[in-house]
Amino acid sequence: MPLSQLQEKIAAIKEKLGKAGSVTVLTGSGLSADSGIPTFRGAEGLWKNFRAEELATPEAFSKDPRLVWEWYDWRRAIIAAKEPNAGHYMIAELEKMFSRFHLITQNVDGLHEKAGSTNPIELHGNIWKVRCTRCLQVAFNFDVPVRIPPECRSCGGLLRPHIVWFGESLEPENLEKSYAALANSDLMFVIGTSGVVQPAASFAGMARSRGAFVVEINPEETAITEVMDISLQGKAGEILPLLVHS
Ligand code: OAD
Repeated sequence: MPLSQLQEKIAAIKEKLGKAGSVTVLTGSGLSADSGIPTFRGAEGLWKNFRAEELATPEAFSKDPRLVWEWYDWRRAIIAAKEPNAGHYMIAELEKMFSRFHLITQNVDGLHEKAGSTNPIELHGNIWKVRCTRCLQVAFNFDVPVRIPPECRSCGGLLRPHIVWFGESLEPENLEKSYAALANSDLMFVIGTSGVVQPAASFAGMARSRGAFVVEINPEETAITEVMDISLQGKAGEILPLLVHS
């Protein structure tokens, strides 16, 4: 994008930020790409030639829990060694600037909280939480590497990642909180998501139809770029500081 065009867009968004009473941010794995964590649909996201859609499913887990746990163990080891980037920190700063602020993330890496965001709505769960398939208890587990297959400390049942897999329902409370935020946003940022996984892929359209000004930050065009008021092509870790600082 030519510099003058970028500057014009930044100025327009800053004006919106100055007037907005409520802001919602939706993030995807591209935000954590600048921390060195592979996105799902990028080439580095592939693990042993499997795609996320083949492993992040209840069917894959019941067929081969060891394989699915090995994939999560690989991802947990990558994430454990990484830190939040400027993008995460800018989103935490934005939160401090608005009394009505909501962060909805599809990311499960926990980097938003590490950067200081409070109460992100973790739509797809958290990779550091496990859930017992027998007694359903949820607990934190930070073991890297994890013992495979991990067992529940209370009942000895098989633990699974506390992640919302393809074909599973999102937690109703998270959905309700998200819809309420989307219906009451003056300004929404959609950062680092390809916009192909529902329901998050529909959130920008929902917010816009309720009057929000919607801004995308992504180095590439996405499936939802056409829904945006402004699309800023660039890396989240580089663009967000231009919006929040300077
Ligand atoms: P994807 O891998 O589908 O998309 C990542 C997006 O980030 C792409 O549009 C990239 O262009 C963009 N991107 C890459 N580098 C970036 C950067 N430095 N700054 C900003 N954007 C960048 O990831 P998600 O949209 O998050 O679900 O995927 C959605 C869900 O599908 C995930 O939560 C996961 C996955 O399967 C589950 O695991 C249940």
